Amino acid sequence: MNLHVTQGSIQDSPADTLIVNLFDDVHVPGGATGAMDQVLDGAIRDLIAGGDLSGKANEVAVIYPRGAIPARRVLVVGLGQREDFDLEGVRQAAAAGIKRARELKAKHVATIVHGAGVAGLPVAAAAQATTEGALLALYNYEAARQKPEKPHTIESLTIVEYDEEKLGEIERGMATAVALNAGVSLARDLVNMPPNVATPKKLAAVATQIAEDYHMDLTVGGRKWAAKHNMGAFLAVAQGAGFPPKFIVLEHNGHREELDTIVIVGKGITFDTGGISIKPSDRMGTMKSDMGGAAAVLGAMKTVGMLDLPLHVVGLAPCTENMPDALAYRPADVITASNGKTIEIISTDAEGRMVLADALVYAQKYRPQAVIDLATLTGACVVALGAGMGAGLFSNDDALRDKLLAASQSTQERLWPLPLWDDYFHTIKSDVADMKNSGGRMGGVATSAIFLKQFTDYTWAHLDIAGVALAERDRGYVPSGGTGFGVRLLVEFLQNWV
Ligand code: BES
Ligand code: MN
Ligand code: ZN
Repeated sequence: MNLHVTQGSIQDSPADTLIVNLFDDVHVPGGATGAMDQVLDGAIRDLIAGGDLSGKANEVAVIYPRGAIPARRVLVVGLGQREDFDLEGVRQAAAAGIKRARELKAKHVATIVHGAGVAGLPVAAAAQATTEGALLALYNYEAARQKPEKPHTIESLTIVEYDEEKLGEIERGMATAVALNAGVSLARDLVNMPPNVATPKKLAAVATQIAEDYHMDLTVGGRKWAAKHNMGAFLAVAQGAGFPPKFIVLEHNGHREELDTIVIVGKGITFDTGGISIKPSDRMGTMKSDMGGAAAVLGAMKTVGMLDLPLHVVGLAPCTENMPDALAYRPADVITASNGKTIEIISTDAEGRMVLADALVYAQKYRPQAVIDLATLTGACVVALGAGMGAGLFSNDDALRDKLLAASQSTQERLWPLPLWDDYFHTIKSDVADMKNSGGRMGGVATSAIFLKQFTDYTWAHLDIAGVALAERDRGYVPSGGTGFGVRLLVEFLQNWV
């Protein structure tokens, strides 16, 4: 889809489909919607008066001007209540509008920036949210069918703005949205791909492409490389894997020593059978999403590259399948991680914390200002917060936690703080090693975090994204399937850091 910004009045646009908006307390619209109402001879006022249009959030009314203006149809999108309207409202409105336009087989769509006029949101942010909501809502994963079934494609989306002085800001916001959409779509694609396609090798190929496109440094370590780095925990999980494991290291601005360093780490289990501690077979297929953390890291790195953020950002993704096999690691094994700490295996299904352990130790070599890991780590997190609600947030640093909560608030990729009390450690005390890899059912989300903490000695946050990497149902601009959760959050966090 082509994107444009033009100066003018939206009712004069040559597009076939025009989008304006309405708050729920309006009887006589003003601004761009008011101007539209005028040229339509009061059609919008009529709909409001007749109760056909109330302006409630995500409502879409369709008006046919029949020659009164060049466009074939006008969509009026509800913005809901004025009081709690924010950038999330903008994204939702843009999504509702563009989805209706697609249903109506629109070719060329023109829209105003939602929220920049009456709601008074900053124009660049509002333009970004308008574009972001539209682009993310149109995401489609192309199924592997003999004859591809493509949804209708809208050829262009134009933002129309009357005030010439705002055009530059709108273009800036749009460009950010395009970069975010590229990263989120990549992450969604990787989660949606079947696990025989999205293998560690495939994830490494994607990282290679990002490194080439945005001039990043790349290391892809295999079994030998990992052994050289004493990554016993990562290798233990990979022992039973058929597809060879890959430890991915992507580095943006690696040579600019004046910049702050942020490391982002993503769990990359391309399929989690549970290993010898095998999972029940029904719904095991959802475990293709167990690389959602790695997908978010790769997606975020792509966006970071596109925006060329002035930060040293390192993306780490330890990638492997977790399979039962004659060579697979087993309960009661004792494994030595790369920091020398030993781990008694209680469950081979607690594999995510194993691969993360070595990745978190590896992160230390960058002397980072902060490390953030994202992992579909525990079913317990989903039990605690519910499916599709938000990610669990653990941090050893209040300032880092607050920065992440702020990014969560503005992106609406929700995080909720959970405790990192050292008391939890008693649940993973072992008689035969430094720790066990599972603390049992009680407080499983927190005991996994306290395990990870044993491998960190820097400012760190852990996001348990088990409940949010894969969605069962469509929600606004997040279609069912891979959500790309974490990409927008991370990029917002990184943008605010500098
Ligand atoms: N990948 C799973 C966690 C998961 C569950 C992700 C549901 C997404 C949705 C993880 O590797 C796992 O199996 N965790 C175990 C840990 C237990 C063995 C300590 C769990 O949550 O049951
Ligand atoms: Mn598991
Ligand atoms: Zn897992």
